[in-house]
Amino acid sequence: MKDILDKIKSNKEKVPVHVAIIMDGNGRWAKKNGKERIYGHQEGTKSVKEVIRASVNAGVKYLTLYAFSKENWRRPKEEVDFLMELLIRSIESELDELKSNGIRLLVIGDTDSLPEKVKDKVDNALEETKNNDTLYLIIALNYGARWEITQMTKKIAERVKKGEIYVDDIDDKMVASHLTTAGIPDPELMIRTSGEKRISNFLLWQLAYTELYFTDKFWPEFKEADFYEAILDYQKRERRFGKISEQLKQEK
Ligand code: FPP
Repeated sequence: MKDILDKIKSNKEKVPVHVAIIMDGNGRWAKKNGKERIYGHQEGTKSVKEVIRASVNAGVKYLTLYAFSKENWRRPKEEVDFLMELLIRSIESELDELKSNGIRLLVIGDTDSLPEKVKDKVDNALEETKNNDTLYLIIALNYGARWEITQMTKKIAERVKKGEIYVDDIDDKMVASHLTTAGIPDPELMIRTSGEKRISNFLLWQLAYTELYFTDKFWPEFKEADFYEAILDYQKRERRFGKISEQLKQEK
């Protein structure tokens, strides 16, 4: 493990500042092991801890985890209830650990429509960790990118209507500053587990130039070393942002 971490760190300027993860495959992993789906979510929390630890070790500054999408409400009620309960329990049991490791919790998504007891727990954890800055742990909760983009459009339209801004003032920067991720840099790397190769309504604006990494491992199987593997893979890639390879070499 140390070897792979040293390798990542020797390429310091190519350690991603922001990694986003679609944690997929809890249910299938549980089924494969002859267990109920909820057991997969329970085990998934161990992988959450692994990637948080790995992010701190590797020097990643922002880690975004897709914990619950707007579409996830369509699941059976027992599963939704279990996920909400798991979230509350995880925050309760991990809060001290987050605090002592300098981790700041942030949440993106439609938090206003979350159950009151989830909202209270989340709000308390946001407050308790607000002065930390070793790692920003961003949980996407009741999140959907189309919802986010729609909200942004409404907010900007409202400002135009009030005469605060002109239509011509609207540019990339203004759009970004009205998203739930305002102030957070775009992810350089997005990981999705379980073999699915989709974005699933996750950070549609922010992932415009992000490198995508897909692994067949189910989320409960994804451990610290797998996270480092993904970063190593990312470090080998050339990000051109629309330019050609030769231009990038001249800029160096
Ligand atoms: C996807 O697997 C996973 C989820 C919808 C929930 C993720 C939640 C956790 C890992 C636990 C709690 C999180 C935190 C941040 C404490 P799936 O159910 O879609 O799996 P499937 O595709 O195999 O059905």
